[in-house]
Amino acid sequence: MVYLTRVEHFNAAHKLYNPAWDEARNEEVFGKCANQNWHGHNYELYVTVKGDPDPDTGFVFDVKRLSTLIREQVVEKLDHRNLNMDVDFMQGKMCSTENLAIAIWKELQPALPASVQLHCIKLYETPRIYVEYFGE
Ligand code: NI
Repeated sequence: MVYLTRVEHFNAAHKLYNPAWDEARNEEVFGKCANQNWHGHNYELYVTVKGDPDPDTGFVFDVKRLSTLIREQVVEKLDHRNLNMDVDFMQGKMCSTENLAIAIWKELQPALPASVQLHCIKLYETPRIYVEYFGE
């Protein structure tokens, strides 16, 4: 079994704000991330798939095709968007990096062919903060 990772990038705006709470509680929990007028991140998305190398190509998966799939299924829907307002698969969710990683998995997984398995969505919100989701 070999693990293959493709890295993609997108910029997006969001805020972390729980409408069930008052302003003070939101500020206490989310700090600057609760800012009403949004803020942005330069997200780095690492998509890892796993499989056995194809005997004819030596590849686990065609990385160009993987890049195209990630762009079509995910990046084009997220890049230069407001995660809270513009992205259908984030509607009604807290737009944390954790929830975004889970949502990216759910968008991408059904688009992959059976020859390869999605292993991990690793999503950097900042160079020093990232989450990993393994589908469970
Ligand atoms: Ni943020």
